[in-house]
Amino acid sequence: MDVVELILTDHRRFEDLFRDLRSADGERHAALAELSALLVAHAEAEELEVYPAIRRSSEVDDDEVDHGAEEHAEGHEALLGLLEAGEPGSASWDEKLEELSGSITHHLDEEERTILNDARHTLTEERRAELGHSAACTRASASLVIPSATRAAARVSSTGLSHAMPCNSA
Ligand SMILES: [Fe+2]
Repeated sequence: MDVVELILTDHRRFEDLFRDLRSADGERHAALAELSALLVAHAEAEELEVYPAIRRSSEVDDDEVDHGAEEHAEGHEALLGLLEAGEPGSASWDEKLEELSGSITHHLDEEERTILNDARHTLTEERRAELGHSAACTRASASLVIPSATRAAARVSSTGLSHAMPCNSA
């Protein structure tokens, strides 16, 4: 799978999960567990596989990549704040949810406008497919909560790449 598509799929999933977290009728504990796992795994896959590849391309501003990693760290801090905020729906929990959602929404928007557009223009289709495979494998090994989609993506992207190894965790 094209790494840009893989990341965009995650971004849309983050938005769905935030919608569930805001809703009093939502499965908030389950949504928070999935969001935590996905955020950490997503950031790890980007920082280990995607950002280094983009950084090597001379056309891309390194500051954008550094900034993306800084925003991941900020998102993780906001996530910790929410995990420590007690019961869903309390005033402090709502406040921490707003902080996290603001931080992540800002990051997704910026990453889509800068890094992902750069990746589309500077990396070949084949390279994006290789990175998608590596990123899906990294993500699958970083998370036990969201294995099915990532493993499926990893399997699909490995077909047609003769040198691609299957994920050990798949
Ligand atoms: Fe990111």
